Amino acid sequence: MDTTFEPRFLSPALFRLRVQTPKIKEKKNMELVQGFPLLYQQFTALFKKNLLLSWRNKSATFLQLFSSFFFMFLLFGIEKATESRTKTSTGFKTVTNPQPMWEPPIPPCEDKFYVKMPCFDFVWSGNDSTRIANIVTAIMINNPNRQIRSDKVKSFRTEEELDDWLFRNPMQVPGALHFVDVSPSLITYGLQTNSTPVVRRGHYEDPTFKFQIPLQIAAEREIARSIIGVPTYNWKVGLTEFAHPAKAAFSAVATVGPAFFLAFTMFGFVLQITNLVAEKELKLRQAMNMTGLYESAYWTSWIIWEGIITFISSLLLVLFGMMFQFDFFKKNNFGILFFVFFLFQVNMIVTIAGFPYKKSISAFLRFIWSFFPPNLLAQAVNLLSDATSTPEALGISWKGRSKCPPDTDDCVMTINDVYTWLICLFFLWFALAIYFDNIFPNVSGVRKSVIYFFNPGYWTGKGGGKVEEGGMCSCITEIPQQDHIVPDDEDVLEEENIVKNDVKDNTVNPDVAVQIRGLGKTYPGTTQIGCCKCKKTSPYHAVRDLWVNFRKDQLFCLLGPNGAGKTTTINCLTGITPVTGGDALVYGHSVRSTVGMSGIRKIIGVCPQFDILWDALSGEEHLQLFASIKGLPPALIKSVAQESLAQVKLTESAKVRARSYSGGMRRRLSVAISLLGDPKLVILDEPTTGMDPISRRHVWDIIQNTKKGRAIVLTTHSMEEADILSDRIGIMAKGRLRCIGNSIRLKSKFGTGFIANVRFGNTNGGQTPSRTPEDTSSRHHEDVKKFFKYHLDITPTEETKSFLTFVIPHDKEGVLKDFFAELQARQSEFNVSDIQLGLATLEEVFLNIAKQAELENAAAEGKMVTLDLTSGKSVQIPVGARFVGVPETNSSENPGGIMVEVYWVQDDSGSLCISGHSNEMPVPSNVQPLPSAPQLLARTNMLRQRRGPVYGLVYDSNQIIAAQS
Ligand SMILES: Nc1ncnc2c1ncn2[C@@H]1O[C@H](COP(=O)(O)OP(=O)(O)OP(=O)(O)O)[C@@H](O)[C@H]1O
Ligand SMILES: [Mg+2]
Repeated sequence: MDTTFEPRFLSPALFRLRVQTPKIKEKKNMELVQGFPLLYQQFTALFKKNLLLSWRNKSATFLQLFSSFFFMFLLFGIEKATESRTKTSTGFKTVTNPQPMWEPPIPPCEDKFYVKMPCFDFVWSGNDSTRIANIVTAIMINNPNRQIRSDKVKSFRTEEELDDWLFRNPMQVPGALHFVDVSPSLITYGLQTNSTPVVRRGHYEDPTFKFQIPLQIAAEREIARSIIGVPTYNWKVGLTEFAHPAKAAFSAVATVGPAFFLAFTMFGFVLQITNLVAEKELKLRQAMNMTGLYESAYWTSWIIWEGIITFISSLLLVLFGMMFQFDFFKKNNFGILFFVFFLFQVNMIVTIAGFPYKKSISAFLRFIWSFFPPNLLAQAVNLLSDATSTPEALGISWKGRSKCPPDTDDCVMTINDVYTWLICLFFLWFALAIYFDNIFPNVSGVRKSVIYFFNPGYWTGKGGGKVEEGGMCSCITEIPQQDHIVPDDEDVLEEENIVKNDVKDNTVNPDVAVQIRGLGKTYPGTTQIGCCKCKKTSPYHAVRDLWVNFRKDQLFCLLGPNGAGKTTTINCLTGITPVTGGDALVYGHSVRSTVGMSGIRKIIGVCPQFDILWDALSGEEHLQLFASIKGLPPALIKSVAQESLAQVKLTESAKVRARSYSGGMRRRLSVAISLLGDPKLVILDEPTTGMDPISRRHVWDIIQNTKKGRAIVLTTHSMEEADILSDRIGIMAKGRLRCIGNSIRLKSKFGTGFIANVRFGNTNGGQTPSRTPEDTSSRHHEDVKKFFKYHLDITPTEETKSFLTFVIPHDKEGVLKDFFAELQARQSEFNVSDIQLGLATLEEVFLNIAKQAELENAAAEGKMVTLDLTSGKSVQIPVGARFVGVPETNSSENPGGIMVEVYWVQDDSGSLCISGHSNEMPVPSNVQPLPSAPQLLARTNMLRQRRGPVYGLVYDSNQIIAAQS
């Protein structure tokens, strides 16, 4: 393993040779657009973005525009179905000159809707009388147009017998006659029918007219003929309905129409709201805000775009309504209908229920109810359908919009009133939407003050973007103050003092781009109210007391384990999250001031840790959009976008949508976006994560080239990247800066030392195949090992047939020169072909710092773990303790007792756990255990001989090492 072959040793010139870099044109004197022209530019760019997104998302846009067709078609189907049901009834037709129906015949029972076979045309009781039997025979013979067959009539003796038969044989007969032969001059009869009207396949059956009246006329005719004894007596009865106007027919539009119209408007509303919420949730809006987006440009573009969509869909709704020939759409004025739906749609908010606008409902309730647009729509639809309910009705004309439809005496709200309400509500809800959008926490948990609009800066555009943390009731959860911690590392302390001196003098070194002055960020704990209990999480200090300068023309690399606070620091600098302590100045603009923040947004470019891109937009479109928001001159936008794409090698995929980009391509696009508009400070949060080595090296080169004239802050988990790119490195852990300096300084300070690689060669210089026996080779190995052991007291950390690797501690630095001189002199004696010496890797430094931070944290939290000794005993020890004494092991031989050295490793999550311990050894004399709570417990246990966990005695490792040596 060639550990010395580190990137650090590659000279910048060598590095440049290896990576072919596209020359990046310096855009000198590129004046950014400002003020109203910028607002207009942002508006047009966003409008274009909305247009593109709608175009790309064709199915949703098609639904939004053409859903009205499906609703109208359904409504048409319902209307036609009900119309065919009622078309046989004259009730829904205007009858002015009714014609009588003469001598209606008894119809065959098979004509009855829903009848069971075998059926009878009628049944009768009283068959013990011959006179009655003759009357019934006459009814059958004299039935107009048709004689009734005898098998189609059934007789019974009494009414009870007939009822009993009816009960047992339902639906087999439409009517029954009950004759009673009272006297020669008197015959009475009773009539029994099922009078329920029924409908079958769109035909209406009224049993009264179809069966009852013909049966009645036949019975009366034949009784009369029998009594007077004239079988041909003329008995002619005609049935004539009243002359009447048409009854208001069933109107699908009037009955189910409101629900359908509401469903249609909801359709559009849901799609609109989905787009808006998605942009907010995916942090796309936040990304645009960071680039200096005006809120007004955002809202105007959104409202105007959705306004256009709504305009078209309302227009289509009315056109489709007319196409399906609904009176509702044909008769009412086109404009009237259009404005009802259009104004309603732009108002769409909540509730589906309708409210009766009646005189009997108090004016106050009507007023309150009118704040919910669906109620207004329901009222407008009611008015419009009332105005077209009869064939004579003319509908509402444009001029008649402020009048109630004729024949409606309970009308309290006209179409004009509905318009007025909808227009006012549009402005009211729009203002409230923006207000709530501002005062509720966004995806980053920040919001504006509830009275933010009182701040004049909000209206003038000079600030007003000041944000607060937490929910609306965050006043209850106070953010605890962070204590000042004096750094252990002298470089960090020195950096802190440099910044503090600047603060004291109220100056900033002109070389400094970003000065972080005691920055602190504490996330407040959250309170979750469950059904029975409240759960409260404690506040979390993500960044603690950070003092550091990022210099101009330099790249500062921020390293640290996951959760160290790197992204949080960046979020504080970009204003995504408000700081809770200290301040930071970016080119003199304070992140705490709202004016400062708007200044900062103009001069920074940010590549966030997670790509914030629209799936449906291509790389080129992204760059053009962000370039417009940034304020690049319109004439340059296209060429700049092309150049940026070429820079990140995305020219070929320029027109491909981001959805189809690979992870690395998305990262490259994000990097390109962050470099748009020549920002003076570029913040790159893990820019190369997920990139292949070629792309990574390419992006490194871009970063390297863009260093000039700006400051770059970079976070990464690639030590190689940090090593190559950084001018200075800061390693953070648990929210604190643990070390700072350039790569060499950190390696020499925090690495385990130097790494020496000794390579063995062929005895004959590699000219011919080696004939050196195995034992000769191992002898050389042994000799070199002895040589290192003798001079430096070290053994190899890695050993192969041709290599030996040694880690040389820093304290041996003084003797190294002579040591290597001697080794070189004896090179041929040891058969050594090559000796390489290098510093420890940055990774090692990183791991050491992370481990140290974990130790500190564990000590601060007082975490305990169980140490199982090989002797079988178990003791509780604090996490990270190195030398631990076992209680009750004092003897005359070992007056101080027995102790072990505990070895710690970090698990996958970075937490410390015990990997093993040394052999038991005596505690050196004159060394006392450290006083701490567990120690005291250990002693108390010993004194009182109490049962319970046994606590180990922790010794100061420095004291032990000193005593041992
Ligand atoms: N909105 C938040 N609310 C509460 N805690 C948060 C929030 N955002 C981040 N944190 C916490 O702050 C700490 C620092 O997070 P941060 O994202 O800054 O880490 P990081 O150094 O960027 O890590 P990584 O290398 O994984 O990106 C983490 O412990 C995280 O859980
Ligand atoms: Mg991060």
